[in-house]
Amino acid sequence: MSVQMTDPESPLQLPDLDALAGRELRDLAHRMLDDMLDYTLQIRERPVWAQMQPADRAALHCAPPVAPTDPAQVYDEFRQRILPFAAGNVHPGFMGWVQGGGTAVGMLAEMLAAGLNANCGGRDHSAIEIELQIVEWLRQWFGFPAGASGLFVTGTSMANLVAVLVARRAALGAAVRTEGLSRPGRRLIAYTSTAAHACIARAMDFAGLGSENLRLIPVDADQRVSLPHMREAVSADRNAGDVPFLLVGNAGTVDIGAVDDLTGLADLAAAQHLWFHVDGAFGALAVLAPEIAPRLRGMERADSLALDFHKWTQVPYDAGFVLVRDGKVHRDAFATSAAYLQRFERGLAAGEYWPHDFGPDLSRAFRALKTWFTLRIHGAQRLGEVIAGSCRLARYLQERVMAEPRLELLAPVPLNIVCFRYRGADADALNEAIVADVQESGEAVPSTTRIDGKLAIRAAIFNHRTRECDVDALLQAVLRYGDRRAAGRS
Ligand SMILES: Cc1ncc(COP(=O)(O)O)c(C=O)c1O
Repeated sequence: MSVQMTDPESPLQLPDLDALAGRELRDLAHRMLDDMLDYTLQIRERPVWAQMQPADRAALHCAPPVAPTDPAQVYDEFRQRILPFAAGNVHPGFMGWVQGGGTAVGMLAEMLAAGLNANCGGRDHSAIEIELQIVEWLRQWFGFPAGASGLFVTGTSMANLVAVLVARRAALGAAVRTEGLSRPGRRLIAYTSTAAHACIARAMDFAGLGSENLRLIPVDADQRVSLPHMREAVSADRNAGDVPFLLVGNAGTVDIGAVDDLTGLADLAAAQHLWFHVDGAFGALAVLAPEIAPRLRGMERADSLALDFHKWTQVPYDAGFVLVRDGKVHRDAFATSAAYLQRFERGLAAGEYWPHDFGPDLSRAFRALKTWFTLRIHGAQRLGEVIAGSCRLARYLQERVMAEPRLELLAPVPLNIVCFRYRGADADALNEAIVADVQESGEAVPSTTRIDGKLAIRAAIFNHRTRECDVDALLQAVLRYGDRRAAGRS
């Protein structure tokens, strides 16, 4: 079939936004590609983070663009004004918060996905098939049954929200989707530990269930939830006439990486007829590391599981995921019908699995492609070695902290996160200042949290580029700025 070219002089002719894809953009595209691959390979030569000065910020703002700008000029602005002030999580010295480092493979796959510009809400096309492939791989890794369903979302905050909505629908039946929560006498209560991520309470809030109806159960010295306290809380609520419906276990808590007794929680959920959800934002994919996988036992019994590929498995942002044991229950929580979204036997509007039936989004990016490329090209074994290796680095940091009299370890190190601090008077203020000093120096990026009320320096080792020398550099910087501040020289 030949396509008739339109007359460029015709008044019906739209501006040709692809015209740039000829020689001019092609040369620039190759330069961008080379620059970004060099950026990845030479990342150590840069500061981990550089703060934007007022002039840098001001330079990024201008009037809304009306006339076209030369692509080379726009790219130059990116290089001068955006790239140098990135958050730094690509850098091996970045140990702040829980963030992955990305890979060159993921970066290239993002470009390919953008080239296809697939909308992954549904319909019968290859992008949906790749998303289904990821569901299937996860189903096998986590030992979920045939019929399990899954969905890419932005991150675990959204995955946890999807799980709460599925559990809510399972507890209250179809009416909750049409009548909402207007019926009296049905206070649903959920349970998790005090160490759980704040997004669980937010999910209860967004689901209309109320964050106060999430019971935060005490933890033991290792920050694992206390099962007896959990059991007691469920009984007390039931006796008071409320409806316990959801139990959330943690596979890697955000502060220290604690893994709850997931088998014990699965037993409790089964005995009490509760939905068992696991927040495995980063810890779930540690199943790829054979030496860590046994500690995640019980996760295979979850009704739903939230995780992020963009953390320990290094897929570029964003790539969150929710896996649900029973695909029908999952679909029942979200599927709707509309004439313009009708499914047919034939044509592009065919296809069994429309992601739109399993979550809130209709238009969705092709997140599965960068995940598929990362998993295929690096393989589960190598990614598992990254995970196990960062746990070894964390133990190395833990030992160095314990051997250093000026430092104090504040929490156990079950996985890859080390919480410690510089000893001294007014230690909270002192350590807060040290963390800011280290970040601003560009030598390393730790973050802070609180452990038993004490402000801690938190080093979360997620980046596959991090080496022993980066851990040493972090420690040297903490000690140097700590010594300076302790001596009154800030
Ligand atoms: C245990 C845990 N749950 C949930 C989240 C939220 O994940 P996201 O930032 O992908 O929404 C995090 C983030 O670090 C986390 O560590």
